[in-house]
Amino acid sequence: MSEPTELFLRACMGLPVTRTPVWMMRQAGRYLPQYRAVRGKVSFLELCKTPDLACEVTLQPIRELGVDAAILFSDILVPVEAMGMALRFTEEHGPELPAPLRTAADVDKLRVVDADDELGFVMAAVRKISAALPAGVPLIGFSGAPFTLATYMVEGGTSKNFIETKKMMWGDPATARRLMDRIADQVIGYMVAQARAGCRALQLFDTWAGILAPSDFDLWARPFAMRVLAEVRAAAPGVPLVYFVNGSGAILERLRGMGADMIGIDWKQDLAEARARLGPALAVQGNLDPVALFAPVAEVEARVKAILEANRKQPGHVFNLGHGVLPGTPVESVKAMVAAVKQYG
Ligand code: CP3
Repeated sequence: MSEPTELFLRACMGLPVTRTPVWMMRQAGRYLPQYRAVRGKVSFLELCKTPDLACEVTLQPIRELGVDAAILFSDILVPVEAMGMALRFTEEHGPELPAPLRTAADVDKLRVVDADDELGFVMAAVRKISAALPAGVPLIGFSGAPFTLATYMVEGGTSKNFIETKKMMWGDPATARRLMDRIADQVIGYMVAQARAGCRALQLFDTWAGILAPSDFDLWARPFAMRVLAEVRAAAPGVPLVYFVNGSGAILERLRGMGADMIGIDWKQDLAEARARLGPALAVQGNLDPVALFAPVAEVEARVKAILEANRKQPGHVFNLGHGVLPGTPVESVKAMVAAVKQYG
């Protein structure tokens, strides 16, 4: 396979780049007035399910900010609905699944669907976005990882202590394992379909795996994410794979050898130390504190420079936030961040 020319893809693969590429998790979102204008007319799920609108909001940060990658506009819970679970998003509570999974019978009702059929609106959006993107800006597809999706499916929404999930893991491990495996089967088909529709890289969000003790990470998150990465790699060779855990500081060594090309690093760790612990085979993505974008612009620039400096002599760094950009973030600060990466990176 010939080497890509796009900065983002090169950095994912650890290849030399002329400048550090930059994009932001959740870069299409409520901090952007043009996103709020579209969202004012339709619900969040309708936005995800209407390819023209999903395409429009995916492109907004590309036009407004000049970032080096686009990320498909959707949500990690969209395939969960396709698996047969009711899903709604509310302003106060975020995602809600009113009929959470608690028993073996609940898990057995879950379907694994053909992503091109039942999630065809996602693939239509991928094709539209791919056709509309400027040269040099690849489209990133994504999915939630099995453990992280399982927390939503078992808790019924966002959680603080993940009590129901852990009750199932430890009280009925066979059912919990069957759940993770079924989710993994769905995630594999979903990510491969995204690659076939035009995504040039794929990110697996294991946002909540950082709430696990390391020994539980080894049992309940790592093996299922690894199977996803291996099977997606086999079906979509040449597509860089990114694995992100929020709060991975205690388990970084465990992320080696999982099968990802690049690891997303949250802001609660030092990037140079994280790289040293991950070893030279893995690229890294991150890791500005999303709240730093609420600080004065001079502080934003200083922090951007420090992160770039931590990677000065090594390829394989994609600049990003340590987690998603927050609603209310000043767009001017985001622009200053992108400009600083382009100037100093
Ligand atoms: O990064 C992007 O720009 C692409 C789109 C994207 C969204 N969600 C859009 C979204 C991606 C990649 C996600 C992933 C996602 N969704 C994750 C993993 C990454 C992470 O942030 O940790 C998780 C845990 C979710 C679940 C989820 N979706 C929550 C907890 C919420 C509510 C919190 C919030 O920000 O409102 C959502 C809703 C959501 N997903 C919004 C957006 C733009 C806001 C919905 C709105 O417009 O009202």
